[in-house]
Amino acid sequence: MQTAILNIGQLVTMAGPKRPRIGNELREIGLIQGAGVMIRDGQIVAVADSNRIEAEIDSRWEVLDAGGRLVTPGFVDAHTHAVFAGNRANELEMRSTGKSYQEIKASGGGILSSVRATREASEDDLLLSAQTHLNWMLESGTTTVEVKSGYGLDLETELKMLRVARRIGKQHVCATFLGAHSVPLEKTKDEYLAEVVAMLTEVEPLAEFCDIFVEEGYFTADDARSLFSATNLKRRLHVDQFGDHGGAVLAAELGARTADHLEHTGLEGVRALKRAGVTPVLLPASVYCLGLVKYPDARGMIDEGLPVVLASDFNPGTAPCPSLPFVMSLACAHMKMTPAEALTACTINAAYALDRGHEVGSIEIGKLADIVVHDAEDYREIPYWTGKSTANKVLVGGQVAWQK
Ligand code: NIG
Ligand code: FE
Repeated sequence: MQTAILNIGQLVTMAGPKRPRIGNELREIGLIQGAGVMIRDGQIVAVADSNRIEAEIDSRWEVLDAGGRLVTPGFVDAHTHAVFAGNRANELEMRSTGKSYQEIKASGGGILSSVRATREASEDDLLLSAQTHLNWMLESGTTTVEVKSGYGLDLETELKMLRVARRIGKQHVCATFLGAHSVPLEKTKDEYLAEVVAMLTEVEPLAEFCDIFVEEGYFTADDARSLFSATNLKRRLHVDQFGDHGGAVLAAELGARTADHLEHTGLEGVRALKRAGVTPVLLPASVYCLGLVKYPDARGMIDEGLPVVLASDFNPGTAPCPSLPFVMSLACAHMKMTPAEALTACTINAAYALDRGHEVGSIEIGKLADIVVHDAEDYREIPYWTGKSTANKVLVGGQVAWQK
C-alpha cells in the first residue's frame, strides 16, 4: 500500500532532534512550503518538494491531493480518562450556580458518580461510549491517545476499563492504571490503597503507566510512595491541581515519567522537575471547565527548560473536552504559549511523554504516517479558530481514519 500526499501548502514537520523540545526549540516546528509526503506500508518514506515526489511515483501510488492545504502531524493526547459511562452534565449546572468541584464531591457527585455508572455498564456498552469519545478526538485530529482507568475502584471494573482501552480506537492507545483515583465509599483509604496494591499483578499486563491522584481528600504523598514501590509500571501523578501541595517535588523524588496538572506548582517545584527529568503535562481545559482562573505556569516551565506537554484531560468531571485544538487555544490565550509552542506540546513533546517519540509526533522518514490535512493555510489557524476543528482528513498509519 503506497500513498503520496501532494500539493501541501504549508507542511509542519516537527522535524528535529530525537528527543523532546525545550526552550526556544518549542518554536521550531520545521515548516516546509509546497511539500509532498510518500507513505509506504503505513510509514513515512519521503518528505520532499511536491513536484519531486510527483516525478517519482507511478500508477501504483494512490494520490491524495492536499490542494494547497495545511498538513501537520496527528495530535498526541497524553492524558485522558476517555473510558467512562454516562456523563455529569448536572455538575455543569451545579457549577453554574456557584458550587465548587469539592462541594459537588461532598454532595455525592464527582468521581464516585462516574464510578457508579461505570461499574453498572456492561463491557460492550462501555466500549461503545469510549468509541464515541475517541471518535470525537479523531475528528479534531488526535491520532494517539493515553487512556486511564480509575472509574472502577474495584479489581473487576478496573480490569474492564483497561480491556476496553485496548479495544477502543482507530487511534494508537497507551493505557494507564489509575486505581488510586479516589477512595470508594465502601472502604477506608488505607484499606483501599492496600487493595490497589493487590490489583497490580492483574492490571500490570494491561497497562504501561501507573498514576495516582495526590490531593486533599484523595491520596497522600506517602500513598504514592507505597504504591509506586510495589510496581514496575512507569510512574505518573496528578499533582498540585487545587493547591501547591509539593506534588511536583514528590514527582521528582519518585522519578516519575510525568507530573500532570501543576496549576499551583511554584518555582521550587518546577526546578525539581527539571533536575529529575520529569515531563510536565498541563491540562488547561480542566481549569477552564471548572470555571477557575489559575492556569499552570507554562512560560516559567519553558524558561526553566522543561519539555512542556499539553493534553485534554478529557473526563466526565473536570474536562468534558476531547479537543486538543481547543486546548491549544486556551494555552495561547491564557498561558501565553505561542501557537508553535502549543503545537509542539501537542505533538512531538506529547509523543515523547508517552515514550513514543520514535514512532509518532512528527512527519519524518521512518515515523508512522499519522497525519492531519486541515481546512486551513497556516498552522496558527489551529488555535485561532476557537472551539472548531480545522481537520479535513485524518490519517492513522497511512489510512484515512476520518474525513469531513
Ligand atoms: O484529572 N483530578 C483527578 N482526576 C480528573 C477528574 C476526574 C473526574 O472528576 O471525574 C482530572 O481532573
Ligand atoms: Fe486527569
